Amino acid sequence: MRKKIVAGNWKMNKNLQEGIELAKELNTVLSADRPNCDVVICTPFIHLASVAPLLDASVIGLGAENCADKASGAYTGEVSAEMVKSTGAQYVILGHSERRSYYHETPEILKEKIKLALANNLKVIFCIGEVLEEREAGKQNEVVKGQLEGSLFDLSAEQFSQIILAYEPVWAIGTGKTATAEQAEEMHAYIRGVIAEKFGADAAENVSILYGGSCKPSNAKELFAKPDVDGGLIGGAALKAADFKGIIDAWK
Ligand code: 13P
Repeated sequence: MRKKIVAGNWKMNKNLQEGIELAKELNTVLSADRPNCDVVICTPFIHLASVAPLLDASVIGLGAENCADKASGAYTGEVSAEMVKSTGAQYVILGHSERRSYYHETPEILKEKIKLALANNLKVIFCIGEVLEEREAGKQNEVVKGQLEGSLFDLSAEQFSQIILAYEPVWAIGTGKTATAEQAEEMHAYIRGVIAEKFGADAAENVSILYGGSCKPSNAKELFAKPDVDGGLIGGAALKAADFKGIIDAWK
């Protein structure tokens, strides 16, 4: 049975003190009313080491939002997968559309990051999704398949079992314009089919595919009710404990 997951992506929000407060609040609230799904918070690098000891790892997992495409050495300002792992984090988001577009991360760079993350026993939340023009041109399947092929297709089946996918249509991120549950289901089922073709039926059945893009307490239930939507990757609504909890409770 694949896992149901709600993951928060804090992006570049919250200073250290604010981040610690939010992590503590979430830990208290979710320890008192345990979720029916896996919960992960992905924070800026500087928060990880302070947040890790505040979380009950049986209730909330911790992840980074990125890692370097090099193992170690003279790469000023970069943070390696090994460093992320050493904080106590268990996950890393890779391939977010903001990294692809603002920081020019190519499929080849992402391939390196994924290999290093997996080699350091981090689970990877790998993001894929089309921009508006691509959807309007009816090219969303092609684009998403290309993103999967470009960064994941040389993994072994065992390595692939450590990957969580997140379908995030770029036109829905931070816009308030959510994909309909039907649009999400159509794409998630397509993605599962692509994975089945490449890695086999079991891998496709077992991979969690999260939806991301303006997911909030008011629409999470409808999205998560779809058979191929295994949870969400949440931006804005992950920054307030009550909103994030509202989305987590969509699994109840
Ligand atoms: P929003 O939930 O703010 O639309 O962001 C989604 C996202 O990019 C999560 O990675």
